[in-house]
Amino acid sequence: MNPITPWKRFGEVQEQILHGNGAFLVAVDERDRPNAMTIGWLQIGTVWSRPVCHVLVRPSRYTHRCIAHSGAFTVNVPLGTMAEELAFCGSRSGRDVDKFAELSLRTILGTKVRVPLLTGCAVAYECRLVAHAALAPDGVLDEGIRAKYYPRGDFHTLFFGEIVAAWEITA
Ligand SMILES: Cc1cc2nc3c(=O)[nH]c(=O)nc-3n(C[C@H](O)[C@H](O)[C@H](O)COP(=O)(O)O)c2cc1C
Repeated sequence: MNPITPWKRFGEVQEQILHGNGAFLVAVDERDRPNAMTIGWLQIGTVWSRPVCHVLVRPSRYTHRCIAHSGAFTVNVPLGTMAEELAFCGSRSGRDVDKFAELSLRTILGTKVRVPLLTGCAVAYECRLVAHAALAPDGVLDEGIRAKYYPRGDFHTLFFGEIVAAWEITA
C-alpha cells in the first residue's frame, strides 16, 4: 500500500465514476461492524483550504447512520474490477446482511480513521467527517433532476470528508 496525494490518481477515479462503475463507501455501525455501500457519485476537490471528498447519501441508507456514528468514512475505488461486489453492495442493505462476510471482503485498518479500507480496490481515501448538509427540496432547481432522482422526496445528504490519507493499494 503506497501513500499518494489525493490528486495523483484523480483522472482514473473520475473515469471510473463517469462511466457509472461506482465505488465503495465504507463506514462502521454501532457494533463497529464495517458496512460497504456502492456510490455512483463522488467529488474530490479543495474546500475550506483542505482536500475534501464529498459523497451523496440518501437518509434511507443504512450507511447514512453509519457515517454519522463513525464520524468518518473511506472511499474505495476499484478501477474496472469488482463488478459483482459493486452490484451486491448497491442492492443489499447492511441492515439485513453483513456484506463483508457475505462477499468475503478483506479489510485493511485505516491509519487515520477508525473505518477500514477494502482490499481489491486500486485507490482509497480515508476521510474525516467535517460537515454535512441536507439537500433542501426547494434547493433542487432543475425540474429534470427533481423528477428523475427525487420522485419520492428522498433527498440526499452531502457528507464532506477531509481526506486525511490517500492510498494506492497494490495487494
Ligand atoms: C451504481 C450504483 C450507484 C449508487 N449510488 C448511490 C449514491 O451515490 N448514493 C446513495 O444514497 N445510494 C446509491 N446507490 C444505492 C445504494 O448503494 C443501495 O441502496 C445500497 O443497498 C445501500 O446500502 P446500505 O443500506 O447498506 O447503506 C447506488 C447503487 C448503485 C448500484
